[in-house]
Amino acid sequence: MIIAPSVLSADFGNLQRDVEMLNNSTADWIHVDIMDGVFVPNISFGLPVTSAINKSAKKPLDVHLMIVNPDKYLKAFRDAGAEIITVHYEACIHLHRTIQEIKELGAKAGVAINPHTPVSVLENIIKDIDLVLIMSVNPGFGGQKFISQAIQKVADVKTMILNTGSSALIEVDGGVNDITGKLLADAGADALVAGNFVFSASNPKDVIAELKNL
Ligand code: DX5
Ligand code: ZN
Repeated sequence: MIIAPSVLSADFGNLQRDVEMLNNSTADWIHVDIMDGVFVPNISFGLPVTSAINKSAKKPLDVHLMIVNPDKYLKAFRDAGAEIITVHYEACIHLHRTIQEIKELGAKAGVAINPHTPVSVLENIIKDIDLVLIMSVNPGFGGQKFISQAIQKVADVKTMILNTGSSALIEVDGGVNDITGKLLADAGADALVAGNFVFSASNPKDVIAELKNL
């Protein structure tokens, strides 16, 4: 299991310390949540903070763009250190073009779907992408309750991947803990994002190791 702790729940006053903790943990990626206050009802942080994270990070940055018009910022986030760039299906009118642009920049391309969006919208794009991000909360905030419909969506995307010969990974984001994480692992998830569960723990590194072994 790939574990991608979300720095949205880190201590922003001690961001370097928290990134170093992730460097010294068994985390695989560092999940970076970008919110613009338009696509989602919250603003997180942007390019300078992403670059600062990248300076200390020894793991790939998994950048989740919860913004309208992501095309406008793909190169800037790539330059800021993004190895994986995930855009929302709901924010992209010409999704195929957006994915090609991400790949041309040399990054891995991910597509996220909101809880209300059916997995069937991925059918004509699944072979072109490196990652599907299934949202198991409505994007915008850390620490929300897991929406259990995501489990069936993981299984359905897994079937789609097997049927099409796609090599996309399935990542799930929102409300992941030891219990929901196990259900997602059993359904076929390849990667789990965890914010609150990791950073509210007294020993985050133990929690990361626990998720990794689900
Ligand atoms: C939600 C973000 C998530 C968030 C997850 O909008 O995309 O990545 O940080 O946080 P938890 O794990 O606390 O639900
Ligand atoms: Zn996220």
